[in-house]
Amino acid sequence: MTKRIQRWFTLLVTAFTLAFSLSVLASNETSQNTDNTRLGESVIQKEIVGFAGADYWRMVKDGQEGYTTSQSPEHGVLISIPGQTWFILKEKWMSPLGALAIFGSLALVALAYVTVGPLKLSKPKTGRKIKRWSRMDRALHWSMAFTFLTLAFSGLTLVYGKHFIKPVVPSELWGWIIYAAKQYHNYIGPIFAILLLTVLIKWWRKSVFNMVDVKWFMKMGGMVGKHKGTHPSAGFSNGGEKAIFWLLIFFGIFITVSGFILDFPIFDQTRRDMELSNLVHMFSALILICGFVFHIYIGLFGMEAALDGMITGEVDETWAKEHHDLWFDEVKDLPENQPGYDEKLEATKKGKPTQESL
Ligand code: HEM
Repeated sequence: MTKRIQRWFTLLVTAFTLAFSLSVLASNETSQNTDNTRLGESVIQKEIVGFAGADYWRMVKDGQEGYTTSQSPEHGVLISIPGQTWFILKEKWMSPLGALAIFGSLALVALAYVTVGPLKLSKPKTGRKIKRWSRMDRALHWSMAFTFLTLAFSGLTLVYGKHFIKPVVPSELWGWIIYAAKQYHNYIGPIFAILLLTVLIKWWRKSVFNMVDVKWFMKMGGMVGKHKGTHPSAGFSNGGEKAIFWLLIFFGIFITVSGFILDFPIFDQTRRDMELSNLVHMFSALILICGFVFHIYIGLFGMEAALDGMITGEVDETWAKEHHDLWFDEVKDLPENQPGYDEKLEATKKGKPTQESL
């Protein structure tokens, strides 16, 4: 009995000793951790006092260059003073003025729709179709339109999203939106450049200005004022279309070049290069967005039957005569513009006899 008690006692003492030693060990470790944290804090503190004190930050804010192992331009500059000028130009001037210009353009086309209204055909459609845009032309136009418009939306989200979207959506969703906008803009931008070049190569010939366009402008395209309702002469493209074409090419080139500088910052671009590119990119894009508000208005609502050509490839004879009389005279006798041409072509392809061949 005494032996059993002794055994139990020994067991208890051993267990107690073990538990005690473990707890001492643990407490030692905790205090070691606390010591380490204190040591870390004191090192940081020392660094702040010795390395990043008030004088240090004053120099940084003055734009002074420090030392870094990186040899890239300006890597020693923590705060770039001229960057403030860029920030003010972008955020305080270009951004609000751009928003004003876009809303102004939208307001103007709404006003034009209400006061002037859509430009109607003065005679009924005859039903005879004239070929205007090939399949290739239409594919090019709509790819360009899609790319441009989606780039415009993603670009506007990057500039104005923080004012209009961020306050009304959960922050996680906002994070996704802005990330998606940036990625889309960066990757689709180069496709716009390729399409722009293709548009230039394919359509520049029909967009060269001549005296007919000067007269078209003098009569304001027959859209407003005392010339309203008249149809000033025009070739394949009228003066307004040529102007929008060259606007696209001119500012499109600025957008493309500045976009490449921003998209590929691997050619030793300095901060100044990036800031200048950013301002040029934004300014040119805003001009084009405003310009194309008018183009889209005319295509969709402002001119009866204008859209037919860009959808089906053909326009009605009446539309062709009224808006592009000189071009109509050039092409009216071409075989492909004669009634029944497509059916005959289709039948020939399938080897079927046509009405004429019977
Ligand atoms: C919903 C959007 C758009 C609509 C409804 C639209 C409509 C049209 C139409 C109907 C034409 C043919 C006019 C004619 O036959 O004389 C046209 C031509 C053209 N469009 Fe668009 N368009 C849109 C967007 C865009 C965009 C975003 C761009 C460029 C960024 C663009 C660039 C052009 C060009 C360069 C032409 C040829 C003008 C010429 O030289 O005659 N379009 N568009």
